[in-house]
Amino acid sequence: MIVESLRGRDLLSLQDLSPDEVLGLIKLSAELKRDRRKFSGRLSGRSVAMIFEKPSTRTRISLDVAVSELGGNPIYLRFDELQLGRGETIADTARVLSRYVDLITARVRRHGDLVELARWSDKPVVNALSDLDHPLQTLADMLTILERFGRLKGIKIAWIGDGNNVCNSTLIGATKLGAHISIACPRGYEPDKRYLEWAEENSARSGSRVELTESPEEAVRDADVVMTDTFVSMGMEAERDRRLKTFIPRYQVTKDLFEKAKPTAIFMHPLPAKRGEEVAPEVIDGERSVVWDQAENRLHTAKAAILSILG
Ligand code: CP
Ligand code: NVA
Repeated sequence: MIVESLRGRDLLSLQDLSPDEVLGLIKLSAELKRDRRKFSGRLSGRSVAMIFEKPSTRTRISLDVAVSELGGNPIYLRFDELQLGRGETIADTARVLSRYVDLITARVRRHGDLVELARWSDKPVVNALSDLDHPLQTLADMLTILERFGRLKGIKIAWIGDGNNVCNSTLIGATKLGAHISIACPRGYEPDKRYLEWAEENSARSGSRVELTESPEEAVRDADVVMTDTFVSMGMEAERDRRLKTFIPRYQVTKDLFEKAKPTAIFMHPLPAKRGEEVAPEVIDGERSVVWDQAENRLHTAKAAILSILG
């Protein structure tokens, strides 16, 4: 079922959605996964702009295929090939694009640019990753957890490493849906303060538990899901040496650390991964890694979000 209440709305963060809306999107994604041709042609005559200021494999291609399979027209736009790259303002770009397309997705360096885009665009704007949040990734991750365990409520997620954009959005997705989350990161690399506050607020309603610790061993204790992400996110390349020194070896998801979670625990990673940095090859390529399902689910959740927003 299309999540009707999302029609015409922006999707900058899952925090803007009610728990029922998040769950509704996940259920619709599962439906679309069962029948890849469902709603084909539904977006006939509609166009979706996809602005990318950073590289992308999964997000770009899943959005492109999602729009195409629904019969719409995806338009890939490199930030530096638009007049944006020569200093045209976001406000002007938003007003012009809104006259052509039905939806704008954007991957940007600064989350504030998305907010500005959404402010000036007459058409809905969807976050395709910012420095703060990655809602489309978290939808796919929550679908993957639901597929594996049949529920989200009471599932314990351990996030190991950098408290980055994907960590922020996982905090929101988990706490909206009643999953517990324990985050282990070095001091100075915690998730964004506002996201932690939102997670606490969500938890008060959903019954989730949120923990922040410096100890990966503590975080993975009794965990059903062990998640990590790169230690050097896009745009942070200049900090690479310092970050690797801070995170390795303590925050690498090794076989040893993974075995301290539940024996049934799964390993998750949004990809792209750096084997030997945030995760050992035997974990990400091991039997309990679900990273390829996660990547596939990006397609189904992208479809669910776009269908619901475009109605
Ligand atoms: N996980 C993810 O967003 O991957 P891309 O950077 O390849 O889009
Ligand atoms: N944290 C990573 C996620 C990539 C999908 C980054 O921002 O580069």
